[in-house]
Amino acid sequence: MKILSKCHRINNYYQLLDIAMAKLPIRQLPDPVLRQQAQEITEINGELQRLIDDMAETMYAAPGLGLAAPQVGVLQRLIVLDVAHREGAKDLRVILNPCIKSGEGEAVREEGCLSVADFSAEVRRHARVTVTGVDREGKPLTISGEGLLAVVLQHEIDHLDGVLFIDHIGRLKRGLYLRRLKKQLAAKG
Ligand code: NI
Repeated sequence: MKILSKCHRINNYYQLLDIAMAKLPIRQLPDPVLRQQAQEITEINGELQRLIDDMAETMYAAPGLGLAAPQVGVLQRLIVLDVAHREGAKDLRVILNPCIKSGEGEAVREEGCLSVADFSAEVRRHARVTVTGVDREGKPLTISGEGLLAVVLQHEIDHLDGVLFIDHIGRLKRGLYLRRLKKQLAAKG
């Protein structure tokens, strides 16, 4: 999920971390990897820890509020998010095999996505969700959230099933965007 606030400034602290970690290229629509189903993670190893660090770095650098593994071309059920860092704090959450256990209420909020260029739209989702999963050490975790946290959790978990926020908007609006994108890509050659 992309930060939509115009007044956001990148925190220099995260730029310094570039030395230790690598920014990964973010896949863009219409890359087919964004439409595929990600697989459950069954083993936590060094390679996975490295991927988690790189995804966090990529998210902060973008900057974004969340990132799902398929967005960097990895079809594994892994998301990272931090809804606090645009206020200058840091609250990185890493969830392996996340699953929405319950959702209630309704809320409409404007969303964007690092994989969907130059577009944002209002999306209706659950106002509150409870998500279960596993942390990077393999310990079970439960996160209950509302507001922005609930939106980002639902948005990122959607990515693991090949679903993008544009799938939740009206067909007409989505069609207009996809035609505009097609034209832009054709113009670029
Ligand atoms: Ni997204």
